[in-house]
Amino acid sequence: MRTEQPKTIYLKDYQAPEYWIDETHLTFELFEDHALVHSRLNMRRNEQGAGQSLPPLVLDGQLLELVSVALDEQLLQAGDYQLDEDTLTLQPAAAAFVVAVTTRIEPQHNTALEGLYQSGKMFCTQCEAEGFRKITYYLDRPDVMSRFTTTVIASRDYPILLSNGNPVANGEEKGGRHWVTWEDPFPKPAYLFALVAGDLCLIQDSFTTMSGREIDLRIYVEPENREQCGHAMDSLKRSMRWDEEVYGREYDLDIFMIVAVNDFNMGAMENKGLNIFNSSCVLAHPDTATDLAFQRVEAVVAHEYFHNWSGNRVTCRDWFQLSLKEGFTVFRDSQFSADMNSPTVSRIEHVGFLRANQFAEDAGPMAHPVRPDSFIEISNFYTLTVYEKGAEVVRMLHTLLGEQGFRQGSDLYFERHDGQAVTCDDFIKAMEDANGADLGQFKRWYSQAGTPRLAVESRYDAAKGTFSLLFRQSCPPTPGQSEKLPQVIPVRMALLDREGKELPLQFEGEAAPVGTERVLAVAGAEQVFTFTGLTEEPLPSLLRGFSAPVKMSYPYSRDDRVFLAKNDPDGFNRWEAGQALALEMLQGMIGIHQAGRPLLLDQRLRDVFYALLTDRELDPAMVAEMLRLPSEAYMVEVSEVADVDAIHQVREWVRGELANTLADVMWPLYRDLDDGAAYSPDAGSMARRSLKNTLLSYLMLTGSQDAVDACVRQYVEANNMTDRQAALVCLVNSDFEKQKQAALADFAERWKDYPLVMDQWFSVQAACALPGGLVRVEKLLEHPAFSMRNPNKIRAVIGAFANQNLVNFHAADGAGYRFLAERILQLDPLNPQVAARLLTPLTRWRKYDAARQELMKAELARIMAASSLSPDVYEVVSKSLA
Ligand code: ARG
Ligand code: ZN
Repeated sequence: MRTEQPKTIYLKDYQAPEYWIDETHLTFELFEDHALVHSRLNMRRNEQGAGQSLPPLVLDGQLLELVSVALDEQLLQAGDYQLDEDTLTLQPAAAAFVVAVTTRIEPQHNTALEGLYQSGKMFCTQCEAEGFRKITYYLDRPDVMSRFTTTVIASRDYPILLSNGNPVANGEEKGGRHWVTWEDPFPKPAYLFALVAGDLCLIQDSFTTMSGREIDLRIYVEPENREQCGHAMDSLKRSMRWDEEVYGREYDLDIFMIVAVNDFNMGAMENKGLNIFNSSCVLAHPDTATDLAFQRVEAVVAHEYFHNWSGNRVTCRDWFQLSLKEGFTVFRDSQFSADMNSPTVSRIEHVGFLRANQFAEDAGPMAHPVRPDSFIEISNFYTLTVYEKGAEVVRMLHTLLGEQGFRQGSDLYFERHDGQAVTCDDFIKAMEDANGADLGQFKRWYSQAGTPRLAVESRYDAAKGTFSLLFRQSCPPTPGQSEKLPQVIPVRMALLDREGKELPLQFEGEAAPVGTERVLAVAGAEQVFTFTGLTEEPLPSLLRGFSAPVKMSYPYSRDDRVFLAKNDPDGFNRWEAGQALALEMLQGMIGIHQAGRPLLLDQRLRDVFYALLTDRELDPAMVAEMLRLPSEAYMVEVSEVADVDAIHQVREWVRGELANTLADVMWPLYRDLDDGAAYSPDAGSMARRSLKNTLLSYLMLTGSQDAVDACVRQYVEANNMTDRQAALVCLVNSDFEKQKQAALADFAERWKDYPLVMDQWFSVQAACALPGGLVRVEKLLEHPAFSMRNPNKIRAVIGAFANQNLVNFHAADGAGYRFLAERILQLDPLNPQVAARLLTPLTRWRKYDAARQELMKAELARIMAASSLSPDVYEVVSKSLA
């Protein structure tokens, strides 16, 4: 919290550090009401560009009490250094010297969950991006890499004392205190530092690396969670093997640790050798976690593990390069998830998420390039653009260079930059050098914000037997970028005949056809590709697998889309065609609904659904995806002016209509799938549960007694959380008041001692679109299991309401907006990072009608007017109102 106006930091101002820190020796003394941190830094002047005189040493530090500072063993007096709110400045007298600092901090009062803090009884840290400066004075920037030795001293009430690297010594102190010293042989930036102290139980396993080294794998959790670690451990071992096989990356320390903590701002953190996780991304047991939660644990464990190379061995020069490690690592974890599960379904889920959320960010006031040019608070830039769009950019490189070329590029990148802090340009350069490719134009994906539009048309010349595809690209203006240049857009495509078979592809000028699927690199503002040798007009299957993060349009007729939804050999594009068909119909019906005319359902959607429901050869997980209508969030994103009430009502009406007219085929399929089989976590069983629960949600819309009976039975008899939670969601969203209240009460009683399960109980209710949502949510805030100190609870109640409950949040009287603004103002002094994140739905005000825009802006203005806003909230609010 500060009084002066927060400053903007620019990429163009980057300068190499004046000093390096070769060694960092830390000693932590942990006490019940404070901690003492003693640091000893072996420092050396950065020779590059060194002039005659030694520049001052400016160390970062925030919210620290300085106890003592010494330079080359000489204790300094007040006049020997300068201290202000964020820095400690000293004047070295030699090019190499030792700085020793002692600071006093209060982890017990650290509610921002950044730096060293307490979660329950446990001490833990979160240093990325700039949290280390809340522990001690330091050069807290990723390009300063140092070898760390850390000693932790605490009472015996904290039997487990952990830090990065290997334990090298331990001992007893008088008064029941003990200590452990850890040494990390790999130089690292301070953001990868970690410390944990607590009474934790250990789950242990081992892994033999490709060169035959045995790694000690450890998961530390609070004793009551011991039974919920198996899936994380299994995911870790599979990640380690996968990274060896797919990227040739071997683990480098002798020990790898994961610790689960309950209070955590984000998902998890890749600290060297000591990953710290939000417990929601570690713990999973069939009785307590849904299949989706299992998949999330698998993905996050893999993500953090993969960072050991893409992030730790090779790190970022500065925080503008964040996507260097995050975009690449999200791409890596999505490849892993695709390999572990159904690749098509996993791509569908990723793309659905990207389009509903990242596209909205890219169209809003916080839009920024994958490599931003400036920021006020870096925590605000851990965004969907840096992570998800960044991963799409890496995926496009993979698509353009091919599997092998991409691997050669990543090998060169890791070899060339091991132990360095580098930039996105260095990553691209390695890809170029390994492939002899020119990616100069491609790099615009890193510097231009906004989602490109790709308008496609075709022309068939029967006389010549040619088929031309004409591509036109453009990109809407974003804050600070009014004009955009064309980007390289890889379009994976095929041409289909009337049976849906892929035709051989031959470009004009080619002697013979080459394959039936190709990647067209659309580089110009306008570009034409012409195929020859065709005897009938083909139907193009475009942007397969969503080969570029763009909004593509092609004048398909509804019949074309029906045909593609049933026949495209590419599973992703079958789904895409079904979604596009449904979206187009829904959009048309919204207009009709707004005009007050009665709704009618185009039978072609019903026919596609009928075909899906009656073809028992299809993968149930795919069928479940295809039976899902485009989400409300995505429908908002594609609207000029989003009418959330109409979106909700029309979408629910269509779902009800489909349920009523297809109940006869849904019932037998539901009963087949609801076979009472013993629970199994394998992909096939997950697929069956996914389809079964999709069907249940449709059947419940018929409002029949049979449906509610089946739902209650499923709730009661479920042998896993996926089925139980799905039934609960259906009941909560239904009008069967008695059954709903009974299920909610049962669930709360059964799981009252399981905070993560109670998060589900909260979010199911907070997201319920039935009238009266705000009143229900306000009541949830009073529930004893709710806490404003726990980010998971905030996300489960306030986050679910504002992001998933569109009709209630956007209530015309603005009460939802006011509620959110008040919660943000209440949270900001406690936890600015989470407060700033809660703002997202208010930043989207331009999407709504004039009256709502005014109400949303008024709440943003009210927040802006509050005294002593954090830089986090200040940045998002001021940019949203600009
Ligand atoms: N590097 C972490 C991950 O993506 C996230 C750290 C988030 N930190 C923050 N201040 N937002 O795996
Ligand atoms: Zn990450």
